[in-house]
Amino acid sequence: MNCVIVGCGGHGRVVLDILTAAGQHDVVGFLDSNPDSHGRRIDGVPVLGDINQIERLRHEHNIEAAIIAIGENGIRRAFADACERSGLQLVNAIHPSANIAHQTTLGRNVVIAAGALVCAHCQIGDSVILNTGSIVDHESMIGTAVHICPGARLAGRVTAEAGAFVGIGATVVQSIRIGYESVIGAGAVVINDVNPLTTVVGVPARAIKQREVENWSNWLIPKHFLENPRLKIAEDAEIPQL
Ligand SMILES: CC(C)(COP(=O)(O)OP(=O)(O)OC[C@H]1O[C@@H](n2cnc3c(N)ncnc32)[C@H](O)[C@@H]1OP(=O)(O)O)[C@@H](O)C(=O)NCCC(=O)NCCS
Repeated sequence: MNCVIVGCGGHGRVVLDILTAAGQHDVVGFLDSNPDSHGRRIDGVPVLGDINQIERLRHEHNIEAAIIAIGENGIRRAFADACERSGLQLVNAIHPSANIAHQTTLGRNVVIAAGALVCAHCQIGDSVILNTGSIVDHESMIGTAVHICPGARLAGRVTAEAGAFVGIGATVVQSIRIGYESVIGAGAVVINDVNPLTTVVGVPARAIKQREVENWSNWLIPKHFLENPRLKIAEDAEIPQL
């Protein structure tokens, strides 16, 4: 299937590498909001234009599918919605070296990078990134647009709610609930539930920041994204479900 990768930054290159290794889809190009990238080639693959030009580009290049390679959780989810609205199928990028238990439920627009492990009976939501060498142990539930960074480890029966970010090398002990849009700092060891919208760091992890939600319609959508008139596609975003 002819596929585009949305986002040509570092994560975009990782996703291209995964799709190439998996040999599942034909990557015909990248889309990126940065006009300076248009016309360039990344690892031999052209940057075709902006996501706002998707209607024209999909006909020109016979694009049938997309995957969003943007690290920011809210933007990743918003662009996934935009691609689906324009009729593209959202595909997953799963590295052949990732080990995923048979009973795993996988959403769409999911990236599972090299060496990641997903153990028995996990649920992985839409637009999730399980980054390089991360571990998600048995019966864990990973909500929409969660990012589990490289080397982070979640023990069994952990719930990560929508938009949560688990930093590089963090450890989360069993049966913990990680609240929506919370941030777990690099290397933290989480031994208590994490409140929504809260940043925790350290060993054991302690809260250092708490964000307010001003407008539920903006939930998961970073403010700088909504303020950019070229990128207003996500204003009507629904409140994401776990
Ligand atoms: C947790 C994090 C998001 C905090 O960023 P921030 O909100 O900008 O916070 P600040 O840098 O202002 O730090 C606030 C305090 O927390 C401390 N802190 C920040 N990150 C920390 C961490 N990972 N572990 C321990 N302490 C940390 C800082 O030293 C600072 O302490 P001080 O107030 O005593 O000086 C960030 O430091 C982090 O760990 N990000 C994860 C990056 C990552 O995993 N990247 C992988 C991408 S694939």
